[in-house]
Amino acid sequence: MSHHHHRILLVTYPAQGHINPALQFAKRLISMGAHVTLPITLHLYRRLILLNPSITTISNLSITPFSDGYNDGFIAITNTDADFHQYTSQFNTRGSDFITNLILSAKQESKPFTCLLYTIIIPWAPRVARGFNLRSAKLWIEPATVFDILYYYFHGYSNHINNQNQNQNQTTIELPGLPFTLSPRDIPSFLFTSNPSVLSFVFPYFQQDFHELDVETNPIILVNTFEALEPEALRAVDTHHNLKMIPIGPLIPSDTSFSGDLLQPSNDYIEWLNSKSKSSVVYVSFGSYFVLSERQTEEIASALLNCGFSFLWVMREKEEELKFKDELEKKGKIVKWCSQVEVLSHSSLGCFLTHCGWNSTLESLVSGVPLVAFPQWTDQKTNAKLIEDVWKIGVRVDDKVDEDGIVGGNEIKKCLEEVMGRGEKGEELRKNAMKWKGLAREAGKEGGPAEKNLRKFLDDILENAC
Ligand code: UDX
Repeated sequence: MSHHHHRILLVTYPAQGHINPALQFAKRLISMGAHVTLPITLHLYRRLILLNPSITTISNLSITPFSDGYNDGFIAITNTDADFHQYTSQFNTRGSDFITNLILSAKQESKPFTCLLYTIIIPWAPRVARGFNLRSAKLWIEPATVFDILYYYFHGYSNHINNQNQNQNQTTIELPGLPFTLSPRDIPSFLFTSNPSVLSFVFPYFQQDFHELDVETNPIILVNTFEALEPEALRAVDTHHNLKMIPIGPLIPSDTSFSGDLLQPSNDYIEWLNSKSKSSVVYVSFGSYFVLSERQTEEIASALLNCGFSFLWVMREKEEELKFKDELEKKGKIVKWCSQVEVLSHSSLGCFLTHCGWNSTLESLVSGVPLVAFPQWTDQKTNAKLIEDVWKIGVRVDDKVDEDGIVGGNEIKKCLEEVMGRGEKGEELRKNAMKWKGLAREAGKEGGPAEKNLRKFLDDILENAC
């Protein structure tokens, strides 16, 4: 069935890690004939069109800016809890008003939306949709396994998860339908946090959010993963809870036309990579959000200096104040931002030292690059477990930290040497990485399962439309 009748409202949280998969998702929808409207906060809108001007010329994509009241931007990590609360309540109210008006005017123009899709932590979006009897579905931008853990936590398993966390002797957590056990270090960090802001913000969000899903007859979660990657996790909560998880990933850019950079990429790193031999470079990035402490940065620097590999390191801030800067620049290259997908697919890449954000993980997988997993928070801990133990495409940095919570340079160096090395472990990781690369490409290819699943989802919505 053609999907030219589809007009989709796609609502995303204003962060790079959310906008990237949302844009790739929009691209898929548009290629199937749908029209996509993507509301975005004014601050990010300005950055997005400044850095990716061609995005405004894509047909059937309307990017519509609205003010969240913070037109100079808001960074949760550097603000206080009170500020964060204030921000989210403004974002929620203004976002709800804005999409209400979008839905109303689309109706008035006789081009009503057929479906609302929303990414993580936006419970207000389905609420607005329900007021209009508009179908909605969640676009889950983390692995299915993380969804399962959070879902279970808020549906009867919180004590089980918490008790195991507190009991140091018994450290395995089993959850129905998941084929592996978890240890407390693998659980999304939000569930164990004592940070009051996260507790009062994220917890009710998930409870409320899932509650809203629950009251829909057949809640649908489109997951940025693929069948072979998480076959059991995709079904773990399906059967008992009447949820339907549909894998539509990997949502990875194949060209730059839908690039969503919010920072200006540096410009000479590809030439630099071109000058390096095959599989010789370590790529280091901790995503778009997290800021490493000064001491942790120094430990990573010492690992890189001592292990002798060339490296490309994305350091978004404070590069100027970096200790050993001159030495580092002799052996490697430091950039403020790069086109990560381009870097990961470069033949000189040998491994990726990553915080295990889900986008970075999938991008690496699609390029067949093995990983050194150094998770920091949120879903990254679960992603690291999957990387090391389930897909076996990387080595995880030991959690042993000093009194300041810092992982030492020696541990990081050891992991880098294991992954980059020509020993048995390195060979096994590279072989597995290539296997997953093949499977990921198979899932995402034109006419492949991701496309088929999405087409079926769209067909079902049109069929059931009133
Ligand atoms: C956040 C969360 O932290 C992550 O755990 C969650 O899974 C998604 O949302 P972020 O920390 O930014 O995301 O990490 P990640 O998911 O890896 O996304 C970063 C994105 O920025 C990737 O798509 C990556 O390609 C891109 N990037 C990063 C660049 O394009 N250039 C860079 O220099 C660095």
